[in-house]
Amino acid sequence: MTNAMPPAASTLAMLGGEKHIRWQAPAYNPIGQEEAVAVNEVMQSGVLSGFVGASGEKFLGGPKVQDFEAAIAKYYGSRYAISVNSLTSGLICAVGALDVEPGDEIIVSPWTMCASATAIVFWGAIPIFADIELDTFNIDPVAIAAKITPRTKAIMVPSIFGLPAKLEAIVELAHEHGLRVIEDAAQAPGVKLNDKFVGTFGDIGGFSFNYHKHIHCGEGGVCITDSEYLAQRMRLIRNHAEAVVEDKGVTSLGNMVGFNFRLGELEAAIAEQQMHKLDGYVAQRWQQGVKLNRLLGKLPGLHPPALEPDQMHAFYMYGMRIDAEGLQSAGLAVNDFGSLGKIRDLLCEALRGEGVPGVCSRYVNVHMLPMYQKKIAFGTRGYPWQAHENGRAVDYTRGICPQAEVLNEQSYIGLSLCEYAFDDVHIDDIAAAFKKVWKSLDQLRPKP
Ligand SMILES: Cc1ncc(COP(=O)(O)O)c(C=O)c1O
Repeated sequence: MTNAMPPAASTLAMLGGEKHIRWQAPAYNPIGQEEAVAVNEVMQSGVLSGFVGASGEKFLGGPKVQDFEAAIAKYYGSRYAISVNSLTSGLICAVGALDVEPGDEIIVSPWTMCASATAIVFWGAIPIFADIELDTFNIDPVAIAAKITPRTKAIMVPSIFGLPAKLEAIVELAHEHGLRVIEDAAQAPGVKLNDKFVGTFGDIGGFSFNYHKHIHCGEGGVCITDSEYLAQRMRLIRNHAEAVVEDKGVTSLGNMVGFNFRLGELEAAIAEQQMHKLDGYVAQRWQQGVKLNRLLGKLPGLHPPALEPDQMHAFYMYGMRIDAEGLQSAGLAVNDFGSLGKIRDLLCEALRGEGVPGVCSRYVNVHMLPMYQKKIAFGTRGYPWQAHENGRAVDYTRGICPQAEVLNEQSYIGLSLCEYAFDDVHIDDIAAAFKKVWKSLDQLRPKP
């Protein structure tokens, strides 16, 4: 027998109180009967891929691949769509298509999935990281401008978490300097900025269809462009370019190194069905994100995603940041903890303790990955950096992208909305759990 009092309702679960959320979030699943029917049709046909890696009718893939590409081109209003077996493959095709020379520089965000930069390294080019804006987490046009050199060839622009980057300003800057723009729109399908789709601002836009995206086919991707030249080069790189160039009459052999990046008919059939559902899923996520913004907007020291008029957000992730002054006004002083990062980690622990699903305290600083820190990619002798004067001098040390670094190390809190099929009640409960933690901030203070 114990006479201990039950904990007060406000006691944080991580300190022995009651957990605010007791439900298990259902997994997000956009796949339904339509996809099953489409897959069955392909199975019945027995033709699981329509591609052949040689010039001729089958160079462009089977009927489902071509239907999917037509659906993408129609939806985005682009002249060409080139499907691929992942967007990683797609970005490799895109960079290769730009006539990139080894040693050329391509400017990219550090706050993105690593593939945005790996596609650059892949062609022996040099990724140059330009810092992000603190309020959008997207690459900052001002930081890009400061990184342009005579070796710069292109800018790789992710619209991260589904929020459009400053695409108009970036494209204008690119035109001023004669640079190409690749949009990595992996996380921003069906999203518009000023009534124009993300992915259609640059020379090439790419979308991922991997399992975690709003719509998916397991693994897959697609690149769009209005340029016949770029479309042809991406198709060649996708499908064994070196074996096909002669028959196609291609005389410029630069980067005509090919792969098997082809999408299968099963995946294409699924992806095409998924396209019909895209607007619905993006709208659903928009409602969740906007509602969270409304419910969390007044918590001191917490900054929900920044939304501007004429701009959508796909809310692939719901990315927030905390700030020291706001938290201090609510009673948490950084000095008592040693760093803002310690407070951030405690807040995340408290939120997870209350049962909030998908809480993340880190995303990524690509420039801090070992490949960049050690400048070792292909072989062990430092290719591509050691092979080029400019590459050798490239600085990847901590401090080159202070906003992205502070965000990752100190102030970022994310909710992985892409993993769960939340309804309105879930969102209310998540917001209530945040409010409980914020009301109980004093419980997080170190004991004297
Ligand atoms: C921003 C970004 N770029 C590129 C990729 C790569 O896409 P995939 O997984 O289809 O290769 C992803 C995947 O998560 C991504 O989020």
